[in-house]
Amino acid sequence: MGFLTNEGQTYSRGLEGVVAAISAVSAIDGQEGRLIYRGVDIEALAEYSTFEETAYFLLFGSLPNKSELEQFSAELRDAREIHPRVKEHLKVLPSDPHPMDVLKLVVSHLALYDPDKQRMDREAKIRKSIRTIAQFPTIIAHYNHARHGEEFIPPNPELSHAANFLYMLTGNVPDEENARIFDIALILHMDHGMNASTFATMVTASTLSDIHSAIVSGIGTLKGPLHGGANERVLKMLDEIGSVEKAEEFVLKSLQERKKIMGFGHRVYKSYDPRARILKQYAERLSEKYGDTKWIEMGKKIEEVMIREVGRKGIFPNVDFYSGIVYHFLGIPRDLFTPIFAMGRVVGWVTHVLEYLQANRIFRPRAIYNGPLDVEYIPIEKR
Ligand code: ACO
Repeated sequence: MGFLTNEGQTYSRGLEGVVAAISAVSAIDGQEGRLIYRGVDIEALAEYSTFEETAYFLLFGSLPNKSELEQFSAELRDAREIHPRVKEHLKVLPSDPHPMDVLKLVVSHLALYDPDKQRMDREAKIRKSIRTIAQFPTIIAHYNHARHGEEFIPPNPELSHAANFLYMLTGNVPDEENARIFDIALILHMDHGMNASTFATMVTASTLSDIHSAIVSGIGTLKGPLHGGANERVLKMLDEIGSVEKAEEFVLKSLQERKKIMGFGHRVYKSYDPRARILKQYAERLSEKYGDTKWIEMGKKIEEVMIREVGRKGIFPNVDFYSGIVYHFLGIPRDLFTPIFAMGRVVGWVTHVLEYLQANRIFRPRAIYNGPLDVEYIPIEKR
């Protein structure tokens, strides 16, 4: 066996088309623009379900009955608080890091205080997963207050997962419509097949590392602008464009310079992302409600030009394009958009990890070596 036994091996750049697992969690039909969670279309979940119910559905594989849902919601509610030492730590962090970096740090920190930290069995992994799902909103809202030198707003047990986050962030109990729209946004972000951050969590978990480490891998991977970081950049782009009249010229110039338009394109979808269609509708509704249509008008113009120019290449708006406009009207600071994506996606991460661990095999792909052979080692004094 030599180093160059690569004959017959296939290489797929960016693992395109490679099947890395068998999963019953979610599936995407990229041609039809269809997304299902455990067989149910995303449109139905967005219309009728809640964060708590969909999270249960993903984690445990079937829709909960009333008492199961009540119990699961209570478990989430009871786990919202974070350890006092971690709260103190939040207060001494610098105020300028990206909140995704803080999320990574705090999840690692919370792992040190987790009551099941010494346990690696499945039941303990499920408990740690539920606790972490419950704690994400608290971490994000608390850090936002800490970095502005403000007091933390404790979780409100009367409120749902979605409404409680908006409350902890803004200090106001959101109206029913805003809470519901945010709940839907979390459902839409909860899972998406073998996306980069889910794969990252699975790679970490496949070494039989702990669930917190797997989640930290997911956070770090989601942060990048080609993945969850795109939502924040969409609003930056809208700022740069400035007005609907300038949108067409901006898109044409960017395409000419081969620059990517954030919030467009997808490895799997070659048609309209169904999540973007739902979020667009809520971005329109909130623009109308708050009497500020500048963002949505710009968004719609960019969409029109992009579909006209590159729609034939399968480039359409993805989930990140309209979500930023929705979050803007819900009073969420821009650098929290990607942490909010993580707040939904953490459910998908742990679900895939728990599923994969039932028939675990360490992920260990190969690379084709194309470097030199038989290079003589030259001692440093002779170089
Ligand atoms: N704007 C302009 N052109 C685009 C865009 C875009 N947003 N996305 C893809 N293209 C073009 C590429 O330039 C390339 O064109 P070419 O074949 O003429 O060279 C072709 O479409 C294929 O693009 P790739 O980057 O190779 O596609 P890939 O599957 O590797 O990447 C990705 C998918 C990363 C999502 C890409 O479309 C992109 O960078 N989009 C912008 C960032 C973004 O919105 N990310 C969020 C994705 S969804 C999510 O993670 C939640």
